[in-house]
Amino acid sequence: MAIKAVKGTRDILAPEIRNWTEYEDMARKLFRRYGFEEIRTPIFEYTEVFSRGIGEDTDIVHKEMYTFSDRKGRSITLRPENTASVVRSYIEHRMDLQAKVTRLFYIGPMFRYERPQKGRYRQFYQTGAEVFGSSHPFVDADTIEMVVRLLRDLGLSGLRVDINSVGCRECRPGYREALQDYLSGHRDSLCEDCRRRMESNPLRVLDCKVPGCRAVVEDAPSIQDHLCDGCREHQEQVFRFLDLLGVDYRPEPGLVRGLDYYTRTVFEVISEGLGAQNAILGGGRYDNLVKELGGPDVPAFGWALGMDRLMMVLGDRKLYEESPSFYVLPVGKDLEYAVQTALALKDNGYRAVVLAEAASLKSGLKQVNRAGGRFVLLAGESEKEKNVLILRDMENSSQREIPAADLLKEIENEIKK
Ligand code: HAM
Repeated sequence: MAIKAVKGTRDILAPEIRNWTEYEDMARKLFRRYGFEEIRTPIFEYTEVFSRGIGEDTDIVHKEMYTFSDRKGRSITLRPENTASVVRSYIEHRMDLQAKVTRLFYIGPMFRYERPQKGRYRQFYQTGAEVFGSSHPFVDADTIEMVVRLLRDLGLSGLRVDINSVGCRECRPGYREALQDYLSGHRDSLCEDCRRRMESNPLRVLDCKVPGCRAVVEDAPSIQDHLCDGCREHQEQVFRFLDLLGVDYRPEPGLVRGLDYYTRTVFEVISEGLGAQNAILGGGRYDNLVKELGGPDVPAFGWALGMDRLMMVLGDRKLYEESPSFYVLPVGKDLEYAVQTALALKDNGYRAVVLAEAASLKSGLKQVNRAGGRFVLLAGESEKEKNVLILRDMENSSQREIPAADLLKEIENEIKK
């Protein structure tokens, strides 16, 4: 039996892949405008980068990591996300000594053992941005505006920015207690996982998807009533800067996100059309993570965007311009003239393919048809002798002879038609 790709993974093929690469080019250019540099960290790390970074009691660490022992018995994990890895790298390279504020972005695959469904894969791709070294609320707003602009440049509309605060070390313990009190009164209505979470990490109950838990959560106390003055002020400033930057957002007091490292701002961008997996991206502030992973006391903010979901939202829309391909047909055994013609085209920025294996004119044209190609250049021996080429437009099966010396001028005219 033929071998298939592993469940939850897939091949990204043409023409879809063209949207991916075009998007990546656009993203890279945009992020540089905002002062970001690219970072590529390894795809696997020591497991504790993630278990300590993301939190032992999150779904990701609890049940979704691809963890294995290497040949020396060290515990290794395929990255389920990249924030913890980037923090590890930031600390390892003492980036805090190189600049007050460090802005990094990444594009690459992540791995989570989740139940595959529409918009959810076991290998999926993220674009992410992380800013280290500033606790200023402008950084939150600026970094959100950057990704909102990216989505707008991609021509997407109908997206919603939900935003909330999850407090800090000062005010979260009080909220946690109030939430725990409330939840213990509804213990019997919670799922088994949440009964455990209720004790160890009650905020996780807030984003449980089980209907019984959702019903309990509806009347739960709100973090908004428990924020300390510092967190409230921070939130107000973030809103003010978002207004200034022209970003529409919706305060969403129930938003907590599924990772433990957040402090203060959390946000998500939602696309209604996506169904259950409707978050295109999410992120927030994480002022304690660098220190918790053994680094200096450096505040940070970031987000990650799910590229698979982004591509679903883009659907049939093409981000790239379809440039015409030229198929050069030797018609005969001597390839020299065809090869020279194709080289001249490629030298001038055109896509040109020599159909070396076409046994006859007929089979050559059939190949071009199957590939959906439009222009064919016949470059056989008789054309070579006369120093001409035959330019054929497959769209209307018309063809004409052109002087070889006028090749570039002629195809330029033909494309414009
Ligand atoms: P996250 O919410 O776990 O956050 O993931 C961010 C985005 O990745 C999601 O909104 C979703 O679009 C996409 N995503 C997650 N899991 C899957 C999956 N199984 N299949 C397809 N797409 C998926 C983070 O990863 C944080 N590191 C974000 C962050 C950066 N926070 C601060 N800095």
